Amino acid sequence: MKTVQTKTIQVKGLQKTYKQLHVLKGVDFEVEKGSIFALLGSNGAGKTTTVKILTTLLKPDSGTATVCGFDVASKPDHVRQSISLTGQFAAVDEILTGRENLIMIAKLRHLKNPRQVADDMLKRFGLTDAADRKASTYSGGMRRRLDIALSLVGKPQVIFLDEPTTGLDPEARIEVWKIVKELAGGGTTVFLTTQYLDEAEQLADRIAILHEGRIIANGTLEELKKLFPPAKAEYVEKQPSLEEIFLAIIGKKEAM
Ligand SMILES: Nc1ncnc2c1ncn2[C@@H]1O[C@H](COP(=O)(O)OP(=O)(O)OP(=O)(O)O)[C@@H](O)[C@H]1O
Ligand SMILES: [Mg+2]
Repeated sequence: MKTVQTKTIQVKGLQKTYKQLHVLKGVDFEVEKGSIFALLGSNGAGKTTTVKILTTLLKPDSGTATVCGFDVASKPDHVRQSISLTGQFAAVDEILTGRENLIMIAKLRHLKNPRQVADDMLKRFGLTDAADRKASTYSGGMRRRLDIALSLVGKPQVIFLDEPTTGLDPEARIEVWKIVKELAGGGTTVFLTTQYLDEAEQLADRIAILHEGRIIANGTLEELKKLFPPAKAEYVEKQPSLEEIFLAIIGKKEAM
């Protein structure tokens, strides 16, 4: 039977142990094409580990994962051609200018007109004025924007963003959110990890919570809210915030 492939990412039973530490104990989820999927979890939950497996940087011990229909274990080259990764720590080359960084990536991706590609990206990300300054002089927000711009060179179908706004000020965060929304609006599938509940709440079509090695909740914000009935205080019905849902699901009710 032939079906239209709408799942850009499919993950089944993923397990990973580092020495003694069993980080992923059977992770399952799917990501729809053109959607924004947020993987939420505390420090050390295994978000970056999951991203590394999906972007072919790390091999799982067991389980399967496909990206754009390609198995990460048996077709890593095909996967790499379809994706880009903005890692948790900026991959910008500090010694180069913003423009040079972009040109370098465009050349590595064998694009026809690297200068033009760089100019377009600089404009799109509001970096034209800073284009010829060394990236080492950029602010955190500018560096993040350059980092995301670099990962978009060559128009990947799927973009992985590992904690894209950690360390950014509120204004820069909102800028990154805007970029992410535009990407998904244009048909790119976005997989992001975050510790910020408001980020997931703002951006994600679906949110999955990774806790103690497994996905313990997965759904739209509305679906997650239903897992957590609103508290009735006197006559006022209070809608739970994602933070309350998160803490309730991972069992830290006392922290609320
Ligand atoms: N190469 C490694 N060797 C040993 N342990 C590792 C390795 N990489 C990660 N770990 C451990 O695995 C666990 C999961 O790490 P991971 O980086 O995936 O978490 P994370 O959810 O991305 O956390 P954070 O929010 O801090 O980025 C952590 O306890 C980490 O210390
Ligand atoms: Mg991480």
